[in-house]
Amino acid sequence: MSERLEDIATRMVAPGKGILAADESTGTIKKRFDSIGVESTEDNRRDYREMLFRAEDAMTNCISGVILFDETLRQKAADGTPLVELIAGTGAVPGIKVDKGAQGFAGHPGEKVTEGLDGLRDRLKEYHGLGARFAKWRAVIDIADHTPSKGCIKANAHALARYAALCQENGIVPIVEPEVLMDGPVAAHDVDHCLHVTTWTLNTVFDELFDARVSLEGMVLKPNMVIAGKNAGQQASAEEVADKTVACLKRTVPAAVAGIAFLSGGQSDEDATRHLSLMNQRGEDMPWPLTFSYGRALQAAALKAWGGRSENVAAAQAAFAHRARMNGLAATGAWQADLEQAA
Ligand code: 13P
Repeated sequence: MSERLEDIATRMVAPGKGILAADESTGTIKKRFDSIGVESTEDNRRDYREMLFRAEDAMTNCISGVILFDETLRQKAADGTPLVELIAGTGAVPGIKVDKGAQGFAGHPGEKVTEGLDGLRDRLKEYHGLGARFAKWRAVIDIADHTPSKGCIKANAHALARYAALCQENGIVPIVEPEVLMDGPVAAHDVDHCLHVTTWTLNTVFDELFDARVSLEGMVLKPNMVIAGKNAGQQASAEEVADKTVACLKRTVPAAVAGIAFLSGGQSDEDATRHLSLMNQRGEDMPWPLTFSYGRALQAAALKAWGGRSENVAAAQAAFAHRARMNGLAATGAWQADLEQAA
């Protein structure tokens, strides 16, 4: 398999496939397990993720890459096979979350900046040795009454660019993820406000990527869709979300970028699929492949079906396979609502 950044990035956005985000930090996976009443032990986290990676049909046909947390990259399946080997065996590229989380941004109440640059070069070298060929760094931009600020967007964009350059130096494709959050208390956070903030954010990010000499062909962008806030009075139609997201991306993302893989960000499973499919159905020339890099929208149904019990593994894998297939279809614009009912 080619080790060129461009070739790895192209595999990550292969037609009809997308990325499984299974990189929940220890704190986040505990929250997910709390919701099904399962204790978050190292073995339970392993069992849950092993269940996903052994869903062969979904992994082989619909999943191009898997984002892992540090613990999982080093973990072995119950039979002793390294989980990285399980993933690579399905043809998917193993990846690693390398940021250390969003922390309060000094002088900017309510805003956050993502940390993790110190020592990153050495960590990337180690991760490459452990089999990771792409990485993820997530910045969060919160919409509230007086935010985001210019300073917050700049600081996060700068960190994303320094991270991306370090990844490429070490043979790892960076997923650049500046997430404009859809949750938050603001009633006036409508789709046009999201369009404005997302456009501003992406412009700033690509400006910083240029200054950092990041190769666009060797990276994948992971943006939010342009969507009204969860608490907005006025929600946008699915067509409006698709239209405004594509318009925003065309205004801000250079055509040389290898691909775009959306986050789901708290959308319902079906909305995340519908929106992606609508964008891909437009039939016009899109400069880049548009696909998914979903966490919750790929896993929620499987997590519930699993419930921490080994006798539920097959049902959980079926639930995961269904969402993976629906999103794989959406990545080519071929998803239809009646396919959901049929299942
Ligand atoms: P969601 O799809 O649940 O937003 O997660 C994707 C992700 O990797 C966030 O960083």
